[in-house]
Amino acid sequence: MKSWLLLSLLLLAANMLQQCCVNGQAQVPGVFVFGGTLSDHGNNNNLRTSVKSNYMPYGIDFSRGSTGRFSNGKTQVDIIAEFLRLNTSIPPYANTTGSDILKGVTYASGSAGIRDETGRHLGNNINFRRQIANHRYIILRILSQIGYNRTRQHLRQCLYYVHIGNNDYIYNYYLPQVYPRSRFFNTEQFAQDLINRYSRYIQVLRSLGARKFVFFSPGRIGCTPYALSMRRTNGSCVEEMNAATSIFTGKLRSLVDRLNNNFGDDSRFMFVNNSARNLGVVATGGFTVTNASCCPTGTDLLCDPNQTPCQNRNQYVFWDKFVFTEAFNRFLALLAYNGSNRDFVYPVNISTLVQS
Ligand SMILES: *[C@@H]1O[C@H](CO)[C@@H](O)[C@H](O)[C@H]1NC(C)=O
Ligand SMILES: *[C@@H]1O[C@H](CO)[C@@H](O)[C@H](O)[C@H]1NC(C)=O
Ligand SMILES: *[C@@H]1O[C@H](CO)[C@@H](O)[C@H](O)[C@H]1NC(C)=O
Ligand SMILES: *[C@@H]1O[C@H](CO)[C@@H](O)[C@H](O)[C@H]1NC(C)=O
Ligand SMILES: *[C@@H]1O[C@H](CO)[C@@H](O)[C@H](O)[C@H]1NC(C)=O
Ligand SMILES: *[C@@H]1O[C@H](CO)[C@@H](O)[C@H](O)[C@H]1NC(C)=O
Ligand SMILES: *[C@@H]1O[C@H](CO)[C@@H](O)[C@H](O)[C@H]1NC(C)=O
Ligand SMILES: *[C@@H]1O[C@H](CO)[C@@H](O)[C@H](O)[C@H]1NC(C)=O
Repeated sequence: MKSWLLLSLLLLAANMLQQCCVNGQAQVPGVFVFGGTLSDHGNNNNLRTSVKSNYMPYGIDFSRGSTGRFSNGKTQVDIIAEFLRLNTSIPPYANTTGSDILKGVTYASGSAGIRDETGRHLGNNINFRRQIANHRYIILRILSQIGYNRTRQHLRQCLYYVHIGNNDYIYNYYLPQVYPRSRFFNTEQFAQDLINRYSRYIQVLRSLGARKFVFFSPGRIGCTPYALSMRRTNGSCVEEMNAATSIFTGKLRSLVDRLNNNFGDDSRFMFVNNSARNLGVVATGGFTVTNASCCPTGTDLLCDPNQTPCQNRNQYVFWDKFVFTEAFNRFLALLAYNGSNRDFVYPVNISTLVQS
C-alpha cells in the first residue's frame, strides 16, 4: 500500500517536472478579459447585432477559422496568453464548453463600451457593467469546482486584462446625431465621466478578489481608416479625435497611480499607453500600409463577407477599417509584455507585473 503511494507520488513529481521543463510553467494561472471589439473571441456570435466577425475573411489566418475574433488571426489577448505560457486559447464567455475556465475567460464584446449605451445603435452588445455581472457567474462556477479557499487564492493570482474605451469614442461621442448626450459634454467632461465609471468597475472587480490589473488605453482612433474615411482628411490623422482619447489616456494613467498608492502592497496596477503606439512603428515593425484596411470593406467598418483580402498581411497595420492585423497585434503585445519604454508601459511591463 505504502509503496504504491510512493510510486504514484514519484510518477506525479516526474510528470510535473517534465511539464515544467519541456513547456515552461505558466506565469499566471489565468487571465480574465474585459473589453470591446479588439478582445472579443466570439461573444457577439449569437447576439442580435451587425457587429460580428464569425465569417470569412475574419480568421483567415487562424487555426480554427472564423471564430468571432475581429482580426485575420490572433488577437492581442491570444498573443499575450502565449507569452504567459497559458497554453490555451481564452474562451469567450458565450461558449466555455470544453474549456478550462480556471485559465480564464474573455467577456469582451464587439462595439461595447464603458458607458451602457455605447454601440447600441448597431444592436446588442455586452457592456462593461454586464461583463462584470458575467464574471460573477464564472466565479460561482469556479467556487463549485475548487471551493472557497482555493478560489480566493486563484482569483488573486490571475491577471485582469482591461481594454475598453475605444467604442465610447467611435460608437458614442463621435456620433452625436445618435447619442445626443455626448453633445452636452466637452472632451474633458466626457473623459472624466468615463474614468469615474471605469474606476467604480475596477473597485468592484477588486471586491471580487482581483489583485493584478493591466489597463490598455484607447488608441489613436483618429488614425484609423474609419476616421480617415469619415472625415476625408488628405490621409493625415484626425487629430481632434486623438486629442480626445489622449485626455482619457492621461486620466487612466493617473488612476493607475492612485490605485497603486491606495492599495499598496496588496494589489498591482499597470497601464499600456496605446496613444503612443505609432512611435517608430513603421520603422521598427516593417508596416508599410498604415492608412488602409487589408480586407475590402463596405459602408461600415467591417470586412465584406467572402471577399479576398490583401496578400501581404504582415505589412498592414489595419485588418478592417478599425481593428488590427495579427502582425500588428503581435507587435503591440510584445511591447506591452516586454517593453521598457515608460511612455508605453507604466510603471512596469506585463512580464514584471505578473512576477510581482
Ligand atoms: C499544452 O497543451 C497541449 C495540448 O492540449 C498538451 O499536449 C501539453 O501538454 C500542454 N502543455 C502544458 C505545459 O500544459
Ligand atoms: C465552443 O467552443 C468549442 C471549443 O473551443 C468549439 O469546439 C465549439 O465549436 C464552440 N461552439 C460554438 C457554438 O461556437
Ligand atoms: C480555509 O482557510 C481558513 C483560514 O485560513 C481555514 O481556517 C479553513 O480551515 C480553510 N478551509 C478549508 C476547507 O481548507
Ligand atoms: C488637403 O491638402 C490640400 C493640399 O495639400 C490642402 O490645401 C488642404 O487644406 C488639405 N485638407 C485637409 C482637410 O487637410
Ligand atoms: C495612404 O497613404 C498613401 C501613401 O502615403 C497614399 O498614397 C494613399 O492615398 C493613402 N490612402 C488613403 C486611403 O488615405
Ligand atoms: C503616451 O505616449 C505619448 C508619446 O507618444 C506621450 O506623449 C504621452 O504623454 C503618453 N501618455 C501617458 C498618459 O503616458
Ligand atoms: C523579453 O525580453 C527578454 C530580455 O530582453 C528576452 O530574453 C525575452 O525573450 C523576451 N520575451 C519575449 C516574449 O519576447
Ligand atoms: C520589462 O521591464 C523591465 C523593467 O523596466 C525591463 O528591464 C525589462 O527589459 C522588460 N522586459 C522584461 C522581460 O523584463
